[in-house]
Amino acid sequence: MHKVIFDTDPGVDDAMALLFLHHHPEIDLLGITTVFGNAEIDITTRNALFLKREWKIDAPVVRGAGETFIPHRVTHAPPKFIHGDDGLGNIGVPEVTDVNPDPRPAHRFIVETVRANPGEVTIVAVGRMTNLANALKEDPEIVGLVKEIVIMGGAFDVNGNVTPAAEANIHGDPEAADVVMTATWPVVVVGLDVTMQTVMTRGQLADIRDAAGTSRARLLFDLSQFYIDFYEGLVDDGMVVHDSCACVYVVAPELFKTRSGTIRVVCGGIADGQTIQKPDGRGFGPSDWDGDLPSQKICVGIDAPAVLKLIHDV
Ligand code: BDR
Ligand code: CA
Repeated sequence: MHKVIFDTDPGVDDAMALLFLHHHPEIDLLGITTVFGNAEIDITTRNALFLKREWKIDAPVVRGAGETFIPHRVTHAPPKFIHGDDGLGNIGVPEVTDVNPDPRPAHRFIVETVRANPGEVTIVAVGRMTNLANALKEDPEIVGLVKEIVIMGGAFDVNGNVTPAAEANIHGDPEAADVVMTATWPVVVVGLDVTMQTVMTRGQLADIRDAAGTSRARLLFDLSQFYIDFYEGLVDDGMVVHDSCACVYVVAPELFKTRSGTIRVVCGGIADGQTIQKPDGRGFGPSDWDGDLPSQKICVGIDAPAVLKLIHDV
């Protein structure tokens, strides 16, 4: 069993990823921590509560950061043109008053849950890295207690999606991402290099809806339509399942090819939010940045059909 904290900004592809974690028999979902990103923190938290209620998920929803690690840091606005004004494809998410979030802030929930399950917790982070950076700031010793951090974010050998250099989850809080990627806990980054290859077609999504025949699958189909329309023209047909890729990595890492090396995030300037890996074994002479930085993994290859099948079948 994999004990997982899901750190998320729902978000259409976040919702699909949440449903995967909820259904997968080898995942024990310990908590859903929210962060600003695809929408403001009030909205992403409301959406997490809504999905918890609609999909009957036991795990608590825990409200996280509403602003960047360095307060008032300038970054891009929530991408309402991708996820809708309500963050879930403009389905008209109602206010949720009958389910309450856990009273703790997300970073404290992360610290306490990791300390209560030493060596066992995997954190799947598919939004800004702010909650993780805040958790590290509060309790730096958790680096030795976490099993693994699996991140959806970054663009290493490909262009970004917010700027030519930067991917959204990293561009939205570069300092937080740099703290998280240079900490000495084991990190695996599932970035645009592989997620952009993982596209669920409209037909496959309709198939899930029809095969399951449940209101859960119907809701997933409905909330995805706005997002799919945005991606039309960018990909052949369908929905890029960024965040689900990170969840699949937890249960089926053999479907990914990884490369190890030290990672830094550019903080400021024209390449703000760019993720760069220096592969292990490559030397750059006196300008090496290594120092004491840990070697972390990034994904450079994916068996996309197998990943999509896993998502489909769960
Ligand atoms: C990431 O940004 C968000 O829009 C998605 O939910 C995903 O986590 C992709 O760049
Ligand atoms: Ca996300």
